[in-house]
Amino acid sequence: MRLDFFIANATDLSRKDAKRAIGKGRVERNGHPCRQASASVEAEDTITLDGASLALPGQRYLMLFKPEGVISATTDSNQPTALDLLPAGLRDGLHIAGRLDKDTTGLLLLTTDGAWSHRITAPRAACRKTYRVGLDEPISRDAISQLETGVMLKDESAPTLPAGVQLIDDRTMELTIQEGRYHQIKRMMAAVGHHVSALHRLRIGDITLDADLAPGEYRDLTLDEIRSVS
Ligand code: URA
Repeated sequence: MRLDFFIANATDLSRKDAKRAIGKGRVERNGHPCRQASASVEAEDTITLDGASLALPGQRYLMLFKPEGVISATTDSNQPTALDLLPAGLRDGLHIAGRLDKDTTGLLLLTTDGAWSHRITAPRAACRKTYRVGLDEPISRDAISQLETGVMLKDESAPTLPAGVQLIDDRTMELTIQEGRYHQIKRMMAAVGHHVSALHRLRIGDITLDADLAPGEYRDLTLDEIRSVS
């Protein structure tokens, strides 16, 4: 893990303030000042801030940029899983908070903390998820207003809750939903006569996929991100 993430996770400092503290030489790694925010921290390293020893809290929280072709599962004998993208030593006890389809890309949250992930996935939590949706055909005003009102999905008895729609261009939009029904976005778009050609999750609650991550990369969540799920 990077030193600045370690400091931000183990203290109340934001990542920016952690970088500042590192730059000022307030952080020591194994007894020597370390002024490089990107320096790596291994399990056996001793890290201090102003002389006080730091430890990560017991639970682990990660974001992963899920690439296409990877399934949202912890293990599978035939197909590559999201957990396979993490180093073996980091996988133990992690589960996925909100799955994505195999062909969907973007933000995947992984944690060891069941209570925390429940606050993301429980229907009553109504946690907002924002997706960038690519379509084969230009979307109509009528389809947008149906999504904003709520649509009836095939084989279901209650309409979806009103969705937030932001048009990017006539074939691309950002769609924000509060539910997590099976294949929800694809089925919502099918209900208004559209086929989804690309689907990418940008945000869960107040946690946004880090623009510095490439597909397949991950990072620890900051303390602020962890605490934003309440
Ligand atoms: N809705 C879908 O249809 N697929 C996903 O992967 C996520 C939301």
